[in-house]
Amino acid sequence: MRFDLIVTNASLPNGQTGMSVACKGGKITEIARCIDAEAQEVIDAQGYLLSPPLIDPHFHMDATLSLGTPRMNVSGTLLEGIALWGELKPVQSVEQIMERALRYCDLAVSMGIGAIRTHVDICDDELKGVDALLEVRRKVAPYLDLQLVAFPQDGVLRDPSALENLTRALDRGVDVVGGIPHFERTMQDGAQSVRILCEIAEKRGLMVDMHCDESDDPHSRHVETLASETMRLGLQGRVTGSHLTSMHSMDNYYVSKLIPLIAEAGLHALPNPLINIMLQGRHDTYPKRRGQTRIPELRDAGVNVGFGQDCVMDPWYSLGTADMLDVALMGLHVGQLSSRADMRWCFDAVTENSARIMGLENYGLKAGSDANFILLQAQDPIDAIRLRANRLYVVRRGRIIARNSPRACTLHLPNRPDSLDPAQYAPKTVATRPAAS
Ligand code: FE2
Repeated sequence: MRFDLIVTNASLPNGQTGMSVACKGGKITEIARCIDAEAQEVIDAQGYLLSPPLIDPHFHMDATLSLGTPRMNVSGTLLEGIALWGELKPVQSVEQIMERALRYCDLAVSMGIGAIRTHVDICDDELKGVDALLEVRRKVAPYLDLQLVAFPQDGVLRDPSALENLTRALDRGVDVVGGIPHFERTMQDGAQSVRILCEIAEKRGLMVDMHCDESDDPHSRHVETLASETMRLGLQGRVTGSHLTSMHSMDNYYVSKLIPLIAEAGLHALPNPLINIMLQGRHDTYPKRRGQTRIPELRDAGVNVGFGQDCVMDPWYSLGTADMLDVALMGLHVGQLSSRADMRWCFDAVTENSARIMGLENYGLKAGSDANFILLQAQDPIDAIRLRANRLYVVRRGRIIARNSPRACTLHLPNRPDSLDPAQYAPKTVATRPAAS
């Protein structure tokens, strides 16, 4: 058989080395140590790491790349960010949102992102963000999976037209039901918003992803309601709690009851390390809380935990490069996930775990999956995070859609090598997991 593409001499995330991957008709057809066949295109991986695409399961594409429009967030605070978004939302056009979103998608592809779940603010009676991102979803579909969340930024109960707008957005084809219970006026309103939104999702057969307890309030209790509503309505496996930062500050006894409840409900947990290390703990003097949810405890209880990016160059966050390995590096540091196994797990958090959050089908390096993968200039998953490794190739459905030149430095030093590849600094004993059978 003549294949469309064969990748040779690749290291895989499961620790296998010297592997070949053959693709035909947009699918991975075979993974083996040696595939002796013809192919239209051959990539010599030179021992570098071949991985499924990076996944960003939490983003705000209707605001991305708007930094400086209509003015800068000078203080760098959440409050000025909220004020700025309030100024930008009424004056931006559908075309401007689309143009920024498409530019961002170019950047995301160049950084090896294969799928993005983006929230879209529906607290705008014209639904400009919805119309723009539905069109962007259609345009990028050949090279990027985009999933849209109807997000009532100003509170589905607090904003008088939000519930109707949310329904209109879902009618137009938005994929997922969002919410922000901690932003409602009272704890009771927050709980009520969770009930209403989960019922809408249940009736329509949709997934749920809520900004939940994104505060330093140790008494915020909305993830508890989200878990109980998930079970009441039979939504197990389809609901995600995003941010969950208040869990950082909660009483330990209460958390010892909460985490098993989250696990029982099959909730996915989705911290956003870059934005939350920046925004949380702002009312503290010293010590300052980190405001990252309890990642290892959730994971060890059997909860699926991914990492999201949340923002790139928008009113709330002025930095960001669409680099999910940057996100993993921050999550690793803030969570003190420094054992070999924990660092290795952080790579799963931006690949497999986040793909599960989005419910992506045909994801992963196995025969029969979509031929979507990236070649990282790194030896193994931990080194990929350490280096925030260069994406040498990005492949979608068996076709190369982006390439980056190898990162190398020419040295001019006495009695030293004349060039340097940062990926050759990996330890000789690489991090491995047992090979999948
Ligand atoms: Fe968010």
